[in-house]
Amino acid sequence: MEIGGVQLFPRQGSTYAGNVDLLFLYLNLLTLFFVVLVATLITVFAIRYRRRREDEVGEQIVGSTKLELSWMVALVPLAMIAFFWGAQLYLRISTTPEDATEIFVIGKQWMWKFVHENGQEEINTLHVPVGQPIKLIMTSQDVIHSFYVPAFRTKADVLPGRYSETWFEATRTGTYHLFCAEYCGTNHALMIGSIIVQDPAQYQQWLSGGGAEAAGGTQGSPAAQGEALFNQLGCAGCHRPEGGGPGPSLVGIFGEPVELESGETVTADESYIRRSIIDPNAQIVAGFQPIMPTYEGQVSEEQILQLIAYIESLSAPAEDAASGSQ
Ligand code: CUA
Repeated sequence: MEIGGVQLFPRQGSTYAGNVDLLFLYLNLLTLFFVVLVATLITVFAIRYRRRREDEVGEQIVGSTKLELSWMVALVPLAMIAFFWGAQLYLRISTTPEDATEIFVIGKQWMWKFVHENGQEEINTLHVPVGQPIKLIMTSQDVIHSFYVPAFRTKADVLPGRYSETWFEATRTGTYHLFCAEYCGTNHALMIGSIIVQDPAQYQQWLSGGGAEAAGGTQGSPAAQGEALFNQLGCAGCHRPEGGGPGPSLVGIFGEPVELESGETVTADESYIRRSIIDPNAQIVAGFQPIMPTYEGQVSEEQILQLIAYIESLSAPAEDAASGSQ
């Protein structure tokens, strides 16, 4: 938005940026209107009803129900517009489209690390394709950070010990600022980076080509690395794909409800799996014993994300036939 050639907000770079700005404009105009109205009335009344004689005594006014009611009734719709508009926009921003490309984000003092679906990694720079919804699955290795891209009007906290999610769809190619928007220690102000929005073809080229050596990576996708880790840590000994082991089979569980020993039912999402690795006895699957040791300190946040990606891949539609035993 520009006023008199001055750029008030960063250029809108995502599908919902325009709507965020409109709501913000509405709230500002509403506020401005009442500030002007109230300030004007105070001034006018102060002059008009000023004391004119030394012995003048003001008239006692007890109130007017009619006046009070009418302003309340008149203002409720204005507040409700802000509420429903804001709620609708919040829901839109917090509901990730089904076909979104997933990217893992790990915040740590003081940098941003990104892991793409094919295992491509980058630090403080994130390449994304234009016109495609991008889902960010974010966690922190230490303290609370906040992922903030002003041009996209995207801001979401990045928390240690759990996963937060946000999404955006960039509408034009270019380079955009990325900030950490939560004070996280001495070098918080240096925890910045760039989002590079490319044509899908360019992005594919970047994803498969050039950067791969830089990332040191022929290690494969997070899911493939997760599978190697799963076997290396011996998880497969208990969590046998066909079931029947001391631990439940993990085939086909991702995103599905899980019945717990406590009688509760939880959804097997990223946070549930993370917790099961770090604090395995907190949520025991119905019919199993609390015998799994914790892997806290033995696996990094990045490795946990790889394990999650692997477990998620066990629920991919293509493997449905193989998971018939579940
Ligand atoms: Cu990370 Cu501020």
